[in-house]
Amino acid sequence: MRFYIKTFGCQMNEHDSEIIAGVLQQAGYQPCGSVDEADIIVVNTCCIRESAENKIWGYIGNLKNVKYQRPGVIIAMLGCMTQQSTIGGALKRYGSHIDIVLGTYQQHRLPEYISRVIAGSGRIVDVSEDNRDFPDELPAVRAAGVTTQVNISYGCNNFCSYCIVPYVRGRERSRSLAAILAEVREAAAAGSREVMLLGQNVNSYGKDLRRAGDAAAPDFAAVLREVCAVPGIARVRYMSSHPRDFSPALVDEISLLPQARSYYHLPLQSGCDKTLRAMNRGYDTAHYAAILDRIRLQTPEAAVTTDIIVGFPGETDEDFQATLDFMARCRFDAAYTFIYSPRAGTPAAKMAEQLPLSVKKERLRRLTELQNSISLEKNLAYVGRTEQVLLEGPSKTDPAFFTGRTAGNKIVICPGDAGAVNEIVPLTITGAKTWHLEAL
Ligand code: 5AD
Ligand code: SF4
Repeated sequence: MRFYIKTFGCQMNEHDSEIIAGVLQQAGYQPCGSVDEADIIVVNTCCIRESAENKIWGYIGNLKNVKYQRPGVIIAMLGCMTQQSTIGGALKRYGSHIDIVLGTYQQHRLPEYISRVIAGSGRIVDVSEDNRDFPDELPAVRAAGVTTQVNISYGCNNFCSYCIVPYVRGRERSRSLAAILAEVREAAAAGSREVMLLGQNVNSYGKDLRRAGDAAAPDFAAVLREVCAVPGIARVRYMSSHPRDFSPALVDEISLLPQARSYYHLPLQSGCDKTLRAMNRGYDTAHYAAILDRIRLQTPEAAVTTDIIVGFPGETDEDFQATLDFMARCRFDAAYTFIYSPRAGTPAAKMAEQLPLSVKKERLRRLTELQNSISLEKNLAYVGRTEQVLLEGPSKTDPAFFTGRTAGNKIVICPGDAGAVNEIVPLTITGAKTWHLEAL
């Protein structure tokens, strides 16, 4: 039997899909490239914003037709949406054709549940949060691509007031350093040059292990050092970090690691201290600025990107202006900008002063306009410089060209003969746009 996995959402979900593919292949199922060829359709879902959920219910709705034409097809819904308290009602309304609903703690059980459905069990829903037998080692079938993704922790303890993640991914659990390093060494042996360490808040790695009595459990800096020391690994990235658990001293440590020091993704969320408090972020703009200033001092060549939410409940024009002003001061290389989306069950969804969509959209427009001009200015400064570019493969828009990434994670469009996939080559930057560089 053949399976097809459709993935929505973040890197964490992409990597979960690699693991789901691994688990299914180990159980004897074969991957295929489309819904039409598949006997088993897995939808890996995301609920970070309402727009994501709407898109996914639309996708799942279209599968009704597939099920109607081929009633033997098994449809499984996995990922963050399944773990919401509202899932029961939503399934009744939109999901009568789904055979298996599997929560984020239970993904490894998919083959067992597929067998049961084939044997005639009817629909199975398992969104249990009991993860006592969640294996530390699961086989992953890595998607084609030069970056190897490795989980260092699952879940999140932060409860930022807007965020659904702690409710659908549970409390933070760090993996053992040994399991992480084994996976990185395996990736290096298979020729991978770049590793991405994944966690909702990588900086608090190990806190849970120390609380549980393992006084010698390493912290994030130690994990990063060990991963950077694995022979063959030229680049190490991590996602996501939290400014509260970041410090100028950590920047000093990272600046000693050539594999990791050229790129920082540090989600700011808001440049207004009042809003940061309401978001329960645990830092203020002064703390953030101190980290950023240290990055610029230690590694002026490092690229820094961020996430920003506009239209948080109670955000006034002045509060939003504070974010614009702080963005202008920080001069990020890029920012991922989002309209605040109320998520059922989170404190912010219950706050008074929810803003109208028109206000949020206008703020997003102004923020994007400011950031785009900064991004372009920053990128233009690269023209004439030589950058080490990790080649990723033919460009999706024009296969005559290749794309790659600089050490600062900027996309570079280059000629198709610049080198082989997975190779790191020096290229002179000849042009710059808002979202990418050119070496043509
Ligand atoms: N509304 C809008 N954006 C959100 N994010 C998380 N929750 C929400 C929400 N409810 C954004 C944050 C986070 C990124 C992954 O998604 O900026 O860093
Ligand atoms: Fe959500 Fe905050 Fe945890 Fe990130 S740190 S996953 S924004 S609760």
